[in-house]
Amino acid sequence: MNESRRISLLILSILFLASGYVSASVSQQKSVKEIVKSMSLEQKAQLVIGTGMYFPLPDSIREKMPPSFGGGLDTSTPYGKMVDKIRGYLPGTAGVTAEYPELGITSQTLADGPAGLRISPSRPGETDTYYCTAFPIATVMASSWDTELVESVGKAMGKEVLEYGADVLLAPALNIQRDPLCGRNFEYYSEDPLVAGKMAAAMVKGIQSNGVGTSIKHFAVNNQETNRMSVDVIVSERALREIYLKGFKIAVQESEPWTVMSSYNKVNGVYASESHDLLTKILRNDWGFKGYVMTDWGGGSDVVAQMNAGNDMIQPGSTATIKTLIEAVESGKLDEAVLDTNVERILNIMVETPRYKGTKISNKPDLKAHAEVTRQTAADGMVLLENNGALPFAKNIKNVAAFGNSSYDFISGGTGSGDVNEAYTVSLLQGLENAGYKTYDELKNTYEAYMEEARKTQDKSRNFLAALMGGKIPVDEMALDATVAEEMAAKADIALITIGRNAGEGGDREAVEGDFYLNKNEKDLIKTVTDAFHAKGKKAVVILNIGGVVETASWSTIPDAVLCAWQPGQEGGNSVVDVLSGKVNPSGKLAQTFPVKYEDGSSSDNFPGVAVKTEGAEDNTADQSGFSMMRRVPWEVVYEEDIYVGYRYFNTFDVPVAYEFGYGKSYTTFEYSHLKLSDKKFDGKVTVSIDVKNTGDVAGKEVVQVYASAPGKHLEKPEEELVAFGKTALLKPGKSATLSFDIDASLLASFDEASTSWITEAGDYTVKVGASSKDIKAKATFSVANDITVQQVSKAMVPQKDFEKMHR
Ligand code: BGC
Repeated sequence: MNESRRISLLILSILFLASGYVSASVSQQKSVKEIVKSMSLEQKAQLVIGTGMYFPLPDSIREKMPPSFGGGLDTSTPYGKMVDKIRGYLPGTAGVTAEYPELGITSQTLADGPAGLRISPSRPGETDTYYCTAFPIATVMASSWDTELVESVGKAMGKEVLEYGADVLLAPALNIQRDPLCGRNFEYYSEDPLVAGKMAAAMVKGIQSNGVGTSIKHFAVNNQETNRMSVDVIVSERALREIYLKGFKIAVQESEPWTVMSSYNKVNGVYASESHDLLTKILRNDWGFKGYVMTDWGGGSDVVAQMNAGNDMIQPGSTATIKTLIEAVESGKLDEAVLDTNVERILNIMVETPRYKGTKISNKPDLKAHAEVTRQTAADGMVLLENNGALPFAKNIKNVAAFGNSSYDFISGGTGSGDVNEAYTVSLLQGLENAGYKTYDELKNTYEAYMEEARKTQDKSRNFLAALMGGKIPVDEMALDATVAEEMAAKADIALITIGRNAGEGGDREAVEGDFYLNKNEKDLIKTVTDAFHAKGKKAVVILNIGGVVETASWSTIPDAVLCAWQPGQEGGNSVVDVLSGKVNPSGKLAQTFPVKYEDGSSSDNFPGVAVKTEGAEDNTADQSGFSMMRRVPWEVVYEEDIYVGYRYFNTFDVPVAYEFGYGKSYTTFEYSHLKLSDKKFDGKVTVSIDVKNTGDVAGKEVVQVYASAPGKHLEKPEEELVAFGKTALLKPGKSATLSFDIDASLLASFDEASTSWITEAGDYTVKVGASSKDIKAKATFSVANDITVQQVSKAMVPQKDFEKMHR
């Protein structure tokens, strides 16, 4: 290094230390490759390994925690000092990476999560607050079927990431909602990979438009929480490519996320984070991903395998992992050139980050404007399941009796790392009051007093992580006295009954009463209140404030309407009332099937898998309940349903459902006409167009779904598969819109294991345009003359054992 360089580096280091914020002008003079060359082995190891997870706990407690959870940091060393400092950049984030100002390397702050930025809302010794917006959960966004809307949410979310000084948001999450019981379904979009992929791509575009990054997660096949750290998912190559990887492929290719987070689980015998097949052959070679891959927090077990696989960063990491990595290079177990590649990928992203660019942060995002975004989005993603004339509220409705615990303790989002620290949640009651409706203090007092008592005795172990990280686990529903319902029916104009559910990271739900099924108090509540109001000629409406699917078939026709509000973010009560009052006409449709019974689903026989007896191991079939976040129980789940996930199963095998994929009602009606295909013979692409007319009395939007049925000659196919979707603008009564969709060969292709390629088979295809997967409004056919090989891809992730697969 020459003298003038040395001096300028020194000045920059001093400036950096003085400002508390890194300026990156040093490295702007250096290429990333040069930076890598200038790094010591120790620095490389420190960079690829995160700095441990930091909980703002008293030192006496923290010291006792494992290294990756903040323990064991020796702050007398230069590394320890640096880590201690950078952990303070943005309190409450999930992870940080090392910085070396003298080399022009800035730290990256990685923060959760899908429903908004998760940081600490307050800082010791400060009166300022750092709240973030709790946006509607992913399931709500998918139910809007509106990628533009989702992109606008991403823009607002990414703005908070930027204004608060984070670099990468650990979102979106797009695992497939394979089974209704997965505890994290609220963070995921859909049972369908096209919906999941398009939603994720829109979200990534929105967030990244702010110049901050995303980490699409959890790659891949992380469809359950039970033993998530060790479960081995046995899945066919075809189901893997068509169902579980397809959404990620769409997101990678359409939106170029800066990073990918590998998942905890194994797939066909190999940890995702250690799978060269997954992270290099598929992600990079087949799809062209250019960013870096990080582990999920504590995922995998062999750091050398992870580096070799192309898992560039280990999170949260610890000083022990750094040591292991250095020794691996020194002993020749890991080629330093591999490590250099990992480092280079991390630095290639670093140069894009706000911290590297020296972007000034305001700490003052426009939370008011974002509250408006979340309010509107949530209303657009709610799904009207039943409506027997109760909604929208008639003009004479002024007095509303709200029943159900969750009316008073509304749930804005799920638990765990996806739980945002928002300033407030608008309850249903507040939403009603804000809109000028009169509510009843006597009901409010009764419910609040009951919940306060019930919370004291509630079983806190139900979800350990929710207890640790915050998040609302609702108390059991209060048993309502019939006389209360009758008294209220005499005074109020209408009844609302909210049924609440919550779940999240660290645990799956159960097919039991009080979880997937409504419990006795809830069912009695619906019946008692509806009967009392009907006796007075008044109506009752059920609101589902849920993060995942519940059973509805046994009770949904008792009340006069059922609105699935999901967990609609912090403005929840306002959003629900916007729909109830008719200010917003519901246009959401289900992005997942509501089965009649849990057992009707195709994964119910094998979810969440079984313990695997390993030689010499203790009996591991013992208690698997409760907290399964960090345990490594040998466990296996075999995806025998293969490609028949969600509607692909229900529609193909004619299994009756409560509400089918794509279902949702409106306050108006739509007529579909003039289905046109650009050609009857497929020539690389066919354009489908259809007219949609609002034939009702109020303005509304319609989600239009395009399904295709394939010949399925050699490659067995489900009855139909979604190939495109769109949503009209708000159509006034009598107005029409023409929607058109381009269908190319890739949208029709299936994965052929024999040739390891995507193939669109020759033969006749039927295009079905519908208002749901069952409510098909128009059909047309076209033919493909010869088999088309869309893409030849890598042979990868082949199951190591045979297993029975479902067939038509
Ligand atoms: C979760 C991730 C999350 C990470 C960091 C993990 O336990 O699975 O979704 O991003 O923690 O908080």
